[in-house]
Amino acid sequence: MSDPLSGFGLGMRRPHYAHYVTGEAPVDFVEVISENFMIPGGRPIDTLSRARAHYPVALHGVSLSVGSADGPRGDYLDRHDYLNRHDYLDRHDYLDRLKALVDRIEPAAVSDHLCWTGIGAFNSHDLLPVPLTDEALDVVCRAIDRAQTHLKRRMLFENPSSYIAFPGTMPEWHFLSEMVRRTGCGLLLDVNNVFVSATNHGLDPLAWLDGLPLHAVGQIHLAGHSQGEHGLIDTHDAAVDPAVWALYAETIRRTGPVATMIERDGNIPELGELIDELALARTAEIMPV
Ligand SMILES: [Fe+2]
Repeated sequence: MSDPLSGFGLGMRRPHYAHYVTGEAPVDFVEVISENFMIPGGRPIDTLSRARAHYPVALHGVSLSVGSADGPRGDYLDRHDYLNRHDYLDRHDYLDRLKALVDRIEPAAVSDHLCWTGIGAFNSHDLLPVPLTDEALDVVCRAIDRAQTHLKRRMLFENPSSYIAFPGTMPEWHFLSEMVRRTGCGLLLDVNNVFVSATNHGLDPLAWLDGLPLHAVGQIHLAGHSQGEHGLIDTHDAAVDPAVWALYAETIRRTGPVATMIERDGNIPELGELIDELALARTAEIMPV
């Protein structure tokens, strides 16, 4: 197994593949969406293997679905929809395929989200919110136990961006703290998601930070968001907001250095622009909060 993730990285996106397979991108690590590479042969895994020769890799999944009441990763209806690779990863295959990818790439981190993406044969392809109840906490912890046991390694789980609140539920930071305590998993702290969620719920992002299990943070995400009709939306299509940089500066003051990366999935600029933005993260210790 490779060393723990450290330094400053970027999400490896298709327009920049050429810079990563040659090792010329000046980053300390890359993160990829696991499901895009969970196929044993062909160009995707070849590309990732070539990048892996130059960089530590973080595998970041979107389909484990630890919040599904019927267990992680449900079956899909249409396994012949080869236009979307996610559609033919079934429940058991999913963890086996992820394990095969882990064994092949030897990633520095393996993560997914606190969310659910489907149930039974239904797949939403969205990161849906988990009602933060004791019952859901049991479901999530069972799923994380199962995944970590299958992969024989600790995983990180990301705090979601949140747009609705279910009545009578616990604060997200309490849910995450219990999840970490009961499963031994780590936290992939998305600082932009904290800002988006806190703002949407009329709460202070610093107070949100106060409640999180910061001792368990193994990786940090930064990203841009947009103003929607009813609140902030985690769009990943813009530069990191100044308020999120300030929250990041306060975060690492509390955690110490943590592997940090920028996610950019829309309006993807030239790599150099993202490298310049990432350079800001390297100066966060001296940023005003
Ligand atoms: Fe994220």
